[in-house]
Amino acid sequence: MTTHCDPFRLDGVRALVTGASRGIGRATALAFAQAGAEVALSARSRGALQETAALVEAHGRTAALVPGDLAGPGVPEAVVDEAAAALGGLDCVVHNAGVLPVREDGTPVMVPLQDSAQTDWDHVLSVNLNATAALCRRAHPHLRESSRASVVLMSSLAGVVGTPRMEAYGASKAAQIALARSLAVGWARQGIRVNALCPGWTRTDMTSFAYSLEPLSDWLTAHVPLGRWAEAHEVAHAARFLASPAASYLTGQALVLDGGVSVPDGGLAGIAKPPSPFPPDDPRGEERSS
Ligand SMILES: NC(=O)c1ccc[n+]([C@@H]2O[C@H](COP(=O)([O-])OP(=O)(O)OC[C@H]3O[C@@H](n4cnc5c(N)ncnc54)[C@H](OP(=O)(O)O)[C@@H]3O)[C@@H](O)[C@H]2O)c1
Repeated sequence: MTTHCDPFRLDGVRALVTGASRGIGRATALAFAQAGAEVALSARSRGALQETAALVEAHGRTAALVPGDLAGPGVPEAVVDEAAAALGGLDCVVHNAGVLPVREDGTPVMVPLQDSAQTDWDHVLSVNLNATAALCRRAHPHLRESSRASVVLMSSLAGVVGTPRMEAYGASKAAQIALARSLAVGWARQGIRVNALCPGWTRTDMTSFAYSLEPLSDWLTAHVPLGRWAEAHEVAHAARFLASPAASYLTGQALVLDGGVSVPDGGLAGIAKPPSPFPPDDPRGEERSS
C-alpha cells in the first residue's frame, strides 16, 4: 500500500524565521506551524515574539525564542546556534528580517542617494545583507546534515526593479537575490536549496506610511495589475511553498510576488483607459475597453 504525503506539508521541519515579531515574518512562522514545522523565532522585541510563539503553539507546534539584534556583531551566529540547539538541528532558514532607513518617528527616509547618510546605508546593509551571509554561513553545517534543507531569503520587488530614493534598500535586496543564486549552485550537490522571495507592496508596519494615506495608497495600487496591496499571509504562503517538498526541484530562483507590477507592461493595466491609437472620430477607437 502506498502512503500519500502532501508535498506542501512541512511536518517535522525545523525552521529558523527571522523578523518573526510581526508582519510577514509572523505570518510565515504561522504558515510554517500550520504546515507542521517546528520554529525558532527571532527579532529584537521579545514581547512580540512571545505573542507569535503563542499563536504557533496554538497549532500544537514548538516555538523557541531566539531574540537578537541582527545588526550586532556575532548576533546572527548566536541566533543560529540557539535555534539549532532548541530545535535539535535546522532544516530551513527564512531570513525575513529587513529594514528601510527610518527617522526617529518611524517614518522612512526616502531621499536620493546623493542626499542620504552613510550611516543609513550601513544599517540597511547590515540587517538586510550582512546578516544574510552570517546566518547562511553559520547554518550551513546544520543544513548539510538535513535531508530536506532549504533557505528562503526575503528579498523584494525592490531588488528586481529600480528603486529611486531607496537605493540602499534596493541594493541590499538585489544582493540577496545574487547570494541566493550563488549559494543555490554552490550548495546544490549538498542537497540544500536556496531561493529568494520578492514581494511587492505588502500591508505591514513597514508600509503603513503608504497604505494609511489614501491618495498615496490609491496611486500605488493603480500601478498594480491586481489592483490591491498584498497581505502578509499571501507572502507567507509563498515562503512555505519554497521551503516545502512541492518545490523540491526549485533552487536559485527569485520568485516575484507583486500582483503583476513587474510583468513587462503590466503596470499599464493600472491605467483606466489607454489613449486610442486611432483618430478621435474613428469608430474603432470606441471598441477599446478600459
Ligand atoms: N512590506 C512590504 O511591502 C515588503 C515588500 C517587499 C519585501 N519586504 C521584506 O519583507 C521582510 C519583512 O517585512 P515586513 O513588511 O513584515 O516588515 P516589518 O513589519 O517592519 O517587520 C520587520 C521585521 O524585522 C525585524 N527586524 C528589524 N530590524 C531588526 C534587527 N536589527 N534585528 C533583528 N530583527 C529585526 C522586526 O522585528 P523587531 O523590530 O522586533 O526587531 C520585524 O519582525 C523585510 O525583509 C522586508 O524588506 C516587505
